[in-house]
Amino acid sequence: MEFAGKVALVTGGANGIGAGLARRLAAGGASVVVADVDDERGAAVADEVGGAYTRCDVRDPAASAAAVELAVSRFGGLDLAVLNAGIGTGFGLGDDFDPGRYRDVMGINLDGVVYGVHAALPALRERGGRIVATASMAGLMPMPMDPLYGANKAAVVGLVRGLGPLLAAEGVTVNAVCPSFADTGIISGFRDTLESAGMPVLGVDDVVDAFVSVLRSGQPGECWFVQAGRPSAPFRFPNPPGPRTASGERVTLRHDALTNEES
Ligand SMILES: NC(=O)c1ccc[n+]([C@@H]2O[C@H](COP(=O)([O-])OP(=O)(O)OC[C@H]3O[C@@H](n4cnc5c(N)ncnc54)[C@H](O)[C@@H]3O)[C@@H](O)[C@H]2O)c1
Repeated sequence: MEFAGKVALVTGGANGIGAGLARRLAAGGASVVVADVDDERGAAVADEVGGAYTRCDVRDPAASAAAVELAVSRFGGLDLAVLNAGIGTGFGLGDDFDPGRYRDVMGINLDGVVYGVHAALPALRERGGRIVATASMAGLMPMPMDPLYGANKAAVVGLVRGLGPLLAAEGVTVNAVCPSFADTGIISGFRDTLESAGMPVLGVDDVVDAFVSVLRSGQPGECWFVQAGRPSAPFRFPNPPGPRTASGERVTLRHDALTNEES
């Protein structure tokens, strides 16, 4: 019972990766709050795992705050916030651009993580906890199929990397999980394209395994890739050009200082 006594909040927990993770956490002994806008599926998953469901549109900061409050009032605190709710974009920046849908996708995929972190921090600081955001391989690689999705997932990666050392100083470990294509509703519009290109599709359990690995050994700010046929691991962001001093010496940015010492 690896997660016995732990309390977890899973946004986007009604379906796909979030539902798989809710089941795995509950099977390991955690109390789980499932937060989603799909009330029917969300309530069913919560019932199945003996947890609680709350309607939570992650575009609304007050909804994230209420979801955390439910975890605290029902289960006595919060140890883990999985900020996983997300959608595909389905349009580009040409004639198909739609500003309303653009705000929606940024609101869910990026603002939802920002609001979730903000809402969860006070409760997580109380007992030392973890935040795991679901980013994507699209946050590590160019995503010509859906550049706006790539943009908000890259933003989640940047957020997690920046918050890593900052929150570690407060006893909270933050990570991102960056899956390649996985077998959920989000790929239903292009599953055939992936299959005909010979692109392997991950099972939900593969992604859930990666979350569990991150919960076991993720270090602050790490962003773990999840790819078919190889073990998940932190992506190392090799050899970035800066920051460096004028003489070329690398500078490490920490939460409290600029230094040329290794962090
Ligand atoms: N499946 C993939 O190929 C893949 C790859 C990389 C990353 N991801 C990411 O994984 C996460 C989970 O997606 P999934 O693949 O399980 O898809 P999914 O569609 O099965 O699940 C997404 C969940 O988010 C919920 N959701 C949508 N809008 C919401 C909102 N405004 N507020 C709260 N919840 C909302 C949905 O109702 C659904 O339950 C997403 O962040 C997605 O971007 C998925």
